Amino acid sequence: MRNRVEWRDARVAEVRQIAEDVRQISFAVDGAVPRFDPGSHSNFRVEIEGEAATRTYTVIPAPVGQIAVAVKLHPQSRGGSRYMWGLEAGDAVRLTLPENRFELSWRAEHYLLLAGGIGITPIYGMARALAARGASVRLVYGARSRGLMAFTEELQSLLGDRLILRDNAQGQHVDLEAEFAALPANAECYLCGPIGMLEAAKRAWAESGRPVSRLRYEVFGDSGLFAEKPFTVEVLNRGVTVPVRSDQSLLDALSAAGVEMISDCRRGECGLCAVRVLDRDGQLDHRDVFFSDEEKAEGQRMCACVSRLSEGHAVIDVGYRA
Ligand code: FES
Repeated sequence: MRNRVEWRDARVAEVRQIAEDVRQISFAVDGAVPRFDPGSHSNFRVEIEGEAATRTYTVIPAPVGQIAVAVKLHPQSRGGSRYMWGLEAGDAVRLTLPENRFELSWRAEHYLLLAGGIGITPIYGMARALAARGASVRLVYGARSRGLMAFTEELQSLLGDRLILRDNAQGQHVDLEAEFAALPANAECYLCGPIGMLEAAKRAWAESGRPVSRLRYEVFGDSGLFAEKPFTVEVLNRGVTVPVRSDQSLLDALSAAGVEMISDCRRGECGLCAVRVLDRDGQLDHRDVFFSDEEKAEGQRMCACVSRLSEGHAVIDVGYRA
């Protein structure tokens, strides 16, 4: 685990509904809260079916001394969003001070921000920061319906016609090829959305011939190809078979069963929690951004923090580390 992670006590200061399935929750934190950049996130201690777990949420701009997050209630969530939605003003929580792995470079001539669904959370902070500095920025925000979009009024007044809303229910979608084709040569794109949107963007970006380093992204780990179902894993050389609930990550299930694991980001980014898959009768639902498309297609490794089996049973080796 990261040594610099600093846990703090906090209390819920305010809960606000900001879209049909999104609540903004603000926390008054004990002690000083250092300034944090857009794209930062905090970990929260949550309780799921009586068990302690950790969930990570992007932090959004907040008053001094506070940390705020916007949480989508996911009907098939592993329990984290249900817990967060149950919080009320005055409730005590434990959280970490924000840290950032999705940073703005501040070097581009133009910024294209792309958000899909709850992926708006880091993008919202970036849009505010870029607009405050007078940067050239365009934000394209797609969601299944208008009512599911958060922060739209504020973004509208901030960006005017540089904000493009794409309402899927109205047949509107983000035209990645057109967006990339319209960019000046040294533009950068920052994307946060479901894994399908990210994969399409990576392909379109590569086809546009632009440098890979200028597409930066983050994906939310609950967006897979399959709905979450329970599955089991037999752990090589450990003599245990571990059931994984639909509302539980493989990493949490292994840890709860006493299988020693290492992890860091818990967002499918660092690869520390990777396990080797030796045999399986279900499909691998890769939800990480650590492994390449080729590695995912090989189907031999998966990030236990976010990726899972569609159902069925697998034999895994947790001793494996690249
Ligand atoms: S802990 Fe970082 S990828 Fe799983």
